[in-house]
Amino acid sequence: MNQYVTGATIRALREQKGLTQAQLAERLFVSDKTVSKWENGKGYPDIVLLESIAEALGVSVAELLSGQVVRNGNVSANMLRSGFCVCPVCGNVIHSMGEVAITCHGVQLTRAETEPSDEKHMVFIEGVEDEYYVRIDHEMTKQHYISFIAALSPDRLQVVKLYPEGPAEARFPVRGVKRILYWCNRDGLFQTDVHRAIDARTHSARELAERRALEAAAKAVLG
Ligand SMILES: [Fe+2]
Repeated sequence: MNQYVTGATIRALREQKGLTQAQLAERLFVSDKTVSKWENGKGYPDIVLLESIAEALGVSVAELLSGQVVRNGNVSANMLRSGFCVCPVCGNVIHSMGEVAITCHGVQLTRAETEPSDEKHMVFIEGVEDEYYVRIDHEMTKQHYISFIAALSPDRLQVVKLYPEGPAEARFPVRGVKRILYWCNRDGLFQTDVHRAIDARTHSARELAERRALEAAAKAVLG
């Protein structure tokens, strides 16, 4: 992960753009020797030049800093390809449907790899009338909690934000939902296909409320 632009990136982008060192230098009002120094790792461009360099090379500042040039085709066709970047400093959640070069708090974010739900992050899905009721079996302390649950369908993304000390659960209208993703602040992104995790029975809201009450009573008695 690069925290600042590298000479290799400047050289690669300049050559892709078909510019000589002198031509790039002219656009930036610096000498061609300066550009050569950057490219050979003998110096860094001043931060005030980054925007002009990015513009001259036809990329964004984030792409310049990451050395990762994003060339997405049309990625809008299927929201099931959605991914998330989460800032480790502030918890900011960024949704993307393709490659992305983005920074938050100076950290170069990447799309989180999803893992299948495991025994410490079990997901339970029930059909309750026309909604999916999704519950994650996980602690919800300030140190370790599920911070959001998302439901993906081919044309729709629904995200429910969760908070420590609150329940790790969410409800989503059933309409086309195929996949559930959820984020643990310590363990990362998990996903499951709805058809794998769903309790095959469809419950009425009353049945579910009764069952929750029974579970709560049992918990109070048994601890
Ligand atoms: Fe966890």
